[in-house]
Amino acid sequence: MVSAEAGIDRVLWTEAEVAARVGEVAAELAADLRARPEPAVVVGVATGAFLFLADLVRRVDVPLAVDFVRVESYGGGTESSGEPRITADLKVDVAGKHVVVVEDIVDTGNTLSYLIAHLEKKGASSISVCTFLDKPARRKVNIQLVGDGKFYSGFECPDYFVVGYGLDYAELYRNLPFIGVLKPEMYKKDSSN
Ligand code: PRP
Ligand code: MN
Ligand code: MG
Repeated sequence: MVSAEAGIDRVLWTEAEVAARVGEVAAELAADLRARPEPAVVVGVATGAFLFLADLVRRVDVPLAVDFVRVESYGGGTESSGEPRITADLKVDVAGKHVVVVEDIVDTGNTLSYLIAHLEKKGASSISVCTFLDKPARRKVNIQLVGDGKFYSGFECPDYFVVGYGLDYAELYRNLPFIGVLKPEMYKKDSSN
């Protein structure tokens, strides 16, 4: 068996750089959440956000709830379908709550815009977004926060298809502890994905 990182061309952020930046974002988020009267609901977008969420919340020392939604836009390929689908919904009631949506990456913005509208319909009183990577070069939809929500971001990502630290290509590479760029030959040849 080959190692998980066999298809990686180069590393953009090492495991140590990831950890350091997560600590900084967590400190910023913790300070803001501490100022709120009620516990927030931290909502991870499965699957990609699972590692960032786990590393983030254990560094945010305030009372908070954790839940997940599953929103999928990409299927097995590298291009957004532009039509996100919620394939698993929240367990926690977010009505009247401050929600912090946690993402691994904001690319076109389709996934987040769709999810924010969904959370607003469920009565969230304010919505922040905390994404590990932000790729503004690819944005198609502006992210509209709700109420006094804030946008937190780890790193601005250059316009490569990146994997690792939760991010996949065809469901693989999520377990890499760093963010890397795939070797071009790892992509499927057909462009219809
Ligand atoms: C990826 C990523 C974000 C979203 C960002 O999820 O994890 O959720 O796409 O792209 P966008 O801003 O263009 O919408 P994906 O649909 O691949 O599902 P996954 O998290 O299960 O990998
Ligand atoms: Mn995702
Ligand atoms: Mg994906």
